[in-house]
Formats: sequence, C-alpha cells, structure tokens
Amino acid sequence: MKFRNTQSGYGLIAISLHWIVAAAFIANYILIFSREWFLDNKSDLARTFISTHFAIGITVLVFVGLRIFWRLFEKQPDDVPAPKYQHLAAHSVHFLLYAFMIIMPLTGYLGTGGPSKLFFLIEVPAFKNTAIFATVVEGWMGMNFETFEKPMDFIHKKIGTYAVLFLFVLHAGAAIYHHFVYKDRVLKRMIVPAKDHES
Ligand code: HEM
Ligand code: HEM
Repeated sequence: MKFRNTQSGYGLIAISLHWIVAAAFIANYILIFSREWFLDNKSDLARTFISTHFAIGITVLVFVGLRIFWRLFEKQPDDVPAPKYQHLAAHSVHFLLYAFMIIMPLTGYLGTGGPSKLFFLIEVPAFKNTAIFATVVEGWMGMNFETFEKPMDFIHKKIGTYAVLFLFVLHAGAAIYHHFVYKDRVLKRMIVPAKDHES
C-alpha cells in the first residue's frame, strides 16, 4: 500500500485527507440542520450540537490546509479515461469545492461571536475578541462587529450553504454514477490506496 500518490492512483495520505474533510462537512450539515429542524434551540443538546459544529468547523481548517499543500506539491494521478467535457466538469467542481473548503470554516469563524475548540481541546477565542479584529476590522476598516458579521453570515448561511450542497450532489452523484454505470475506477481509487508496485 502506498502512502503517496502514483501516476494511476491516490495514496493513503490523499485518500485520508479527502474523507476526513468530507466527513467533517457532512457532519456539520447534519448537526446544524438537525438542531434547526428537530431540537429546541435552548436545550442542552442543541447547545452541544452548535458547539460541536464550531469545533469541527475550526478543526477542519487544519486538514484543509494539509490537503491543499498535498494537492499543490504531490504528484497527481492521471484522469481516469472519460469524455473531455466530464474532465472539465469534474475539475471545475473540484476547484469550487476547494474554494468552499476554505470559505465555509473561515466565514463561520469570522462571523460568529462565540469561541470554538480546535481539536475539541484548545480554546480559540471568538474573532471579535482577538487583536487581529481590533487592528484590522476596527482599526483599518473602521467597522464594528455587527456591521462586519453581516456579510460573513450571508456568505456562510446563504451562499455557501446552498453552493456546497449543490456541488456536493453533483460531485458525489458523478462518483456514484461512474461506479455503477461506467463501472470504472473513479470511486474505487478514492477508497483503495495505490499498490506498492505502482509508480
Ligand atoms: C466545515 C465547515 C462548516 C460548514 C460546512 C458549515 C455549514 C453550515 C451550515 C450548512 C449552516 C446552516 C445555515 C442555515 O441555517 O441555513 C451553518 C450555520 C452556522 N455556522 Fe457553520 N459551517 C462550518 C463551519 C463553521 C464554523 C467554524 C463556525 C464558527 C466557529 C460556524 C458557525 C455557524 C453559525 C453560528 C451558524 C448559524 C447557526 C444558527 O442559525 O443558529 N460554522 N453552518
Ligand atoms: C459521499 C461523498 C463523496 C464522494 C463519493 C466523493 C468521491 C470523490 C472521488 C471518487 C474523487 C476522485 C475524483 C477523480 O479521481 O477524478 C473525489 C475527489 C475530490 N473530492 Fe470528493 N467525494 C465526496 C465528498 C466530498 C466532499 C464533501 C468534498 C468537499 C468538501 C469533496 C472534495 C473533493 C475534491 C476537492 C476532490 C478533488 C481531489 C483532487 O484532485 O485534489 N468530496 N471525490
């Protein structure tokens, strides 16, 4: 089993980072919408759900950083043979997913008045209580938190929420379609790491 990518497949590192980030995104959707739809906002469980949303969201930024580093500096496998328009569509969706992998956690953090816990352990202060907020937002931009949080919230809750959902359906749908209809290696190689004899 390879840790690194080969010309034909993903290694364990790329695969693990893909599924850690994917699971974090899916968990954060489940937490926030099950809280909104099924729980009383003031209950202890609802509070646990939202603080877990914050903790997962802030922690995923570390994995997104690693993932982007690995994408930029590690060899990438060749595309599985498919029509050109499918490669173009897949690459465009991947690019947008990478963009929202940064935008979602960041706007969540910047637009929220509460603290979060990195790796569920290390307390990260609310952005409005940091020196960066005082210097950049209050000092240079001349904004208070109420004015600053509005566009952040709008991007997080309105644009990002639905854009990621739309991209996710296209992305996961395409992977499943390839697996069951074309019966090719697109999904399999994001699950099973490249073998030792591959280069
Ligand atoms: C993987 C990263 C993240 C994803 C995918 C994500 C996704 C979402 C989604 C889908 C919503 C629901 C929007 C709606 O009500 O229509 C939401 C709301 C929210 N998110 Fe995130 N989020 C992430 C990270 C964060 C982080 C890091 C924070 C703060 C530290 C945060 C704070 C919030 C808050 C305060 C709300 C509004 C909750 C409410 O309406 O009461 N999010 N997020
Ligand atoms: C059940 C859900 C998912 C499935 C089945 C899935 C499947 C896949 C597969 C098969 C690939 C490889 C595509 C190829 O080799 O051309 C891939 C790549 C990718 N996936 Fe997912 N994925 C899922 C969820 C997600 C989520 C939630 C995100 C982002 C938040 C995401 C972001 C990406 C990105 C950016 C790539 C491109 C990798 C690269 O070229 O660096 N995926 N995914």
